[in-house]
Amino acid sequence: MQSSDDLSEIIAATAGHPGPIGVFDSGYGGLTVLRSLIRELPEADFIYLGDNARAPYGNRSFDLVYRFTLQAVRYLFARGCQLVILACNTASAKALRSIQQRDLPALDPARRVLGVIRPTAEIIGGITRTGSIGLVGTPGTVASRSYDMELAKLHPGIRLYSKACPMWVPLVENLEADGPGADYFVRRDLQALMDMDRDIDTIILGCTHYPLLLDKIRQYVPPSVTVLPQGDIVARSLADYLHRHPEMDARITRGGTVEYITTEQPDKFSQLAAVFMGSPVEAVRHDLQ
Ligand code: DGL
Repeated sequence: MQSSDDLSEIIAATAGHPGPIGVFDSGYGGLTVLRSLIRELPEADFIYLGDNARAPYGNRSFDLVYRFTLQAVRYLFARGCQLVILACNTASAKALRSIQQRDLPALDPARRVLGVIRPTAEIIGGITRTGSIGLVGTPGTVASRSYDMELAKLHPGIRLYSKACPMWVPLVENLEADGPGADYFVRRDLQALMDMDRDIDTIILGCTHYPLLLDKIRQYVPPSVTVLPQGDIVARSLADYLHRHPEMDARITRGGTVEYITTEQPDKFSQLAAVFMGSPVEAVRHDLQ
C-alpha cells in the first residue's frame, strides 16, 4: 500500500504525461456511464474504479463522501489519469466543487475532474415541454440541492421536484433490481414524486445505479413521461469537452483498453460488471487510503 506522500510523488511524476480516462463511482453504478463512454470514445483507454467496499455513499455525510472521493481521485491521478469523471451523482454533488477549487490547484492544476450533474442539467431545457421536471436520486444528492442550483442558473423557468430513494441503490448493489422488492420501492417512490406535480413530463435518473431499474421505472410512470438516464448525456458532453479542449484530448492514451479496479472482492465485481458491460471483466483489488 502506498502512503499519501508516495502518491503525491507519483502524481507529480506523471504530470503532463498522456494517460487513461479515470471513471469513478461508489460501486457498480458508474458502469452505466462507462458503457456509454466506451461507445462514444472507443479508442480511448479507461480505468474504472468502484469503491464497493464503502458503497453506498448516498446516506453518508458530506465530509466522508468528500474524503473518499478525494482518495479515489488521487489514486487515479497516480495511475496517470489526466482527466477523471465522477460517474456518481452523490460524489459530484458533495465532493466535486471542493476538489476542483481546493485540491486540484495543489495536486496538479492542469488535470481535470468532471461530474455528471452539470451535463445533465444543461440538456434539460431542450427536453421538457411543461417546464416541470422530476428528479430521483440518493438522499445525499437530493439534500445537496445541486440540481436545483444548476437548473436555476441554466434554466430559471424550470420547476424541479425531487424525491430521495434510499432503497434503490441497495437493491441494485444486492442484485435485487429484478425482484419483487424492487417493484414495491420503485412504485412507491415514483408515485410520491408524480403526486408532487401532475405536469412532470421528464424524470432525471440522478443516480448512475438507477438505469439498472429502468424497466421497472418505466412501468410505474405514465408513458408520456420521458425517463432520462445519464450515461449517453455524460458521454456526449465529454466528447464535446475534448473537442473544445485539444490540449486535454492530446493527453488521453488511445489503445482501446479498460481496466477495472474495485476496493472489494474482485471476483464478485467481475461477475456483476460483466453483466453491466455485456463482455468479460477481470477486476483487480486496490484499497484506497
Ligand atoms: N451511483 C451513485 C450516484 O450516482 C451513488 C450511489 C450510492 O453510492 O449511494 O449517486
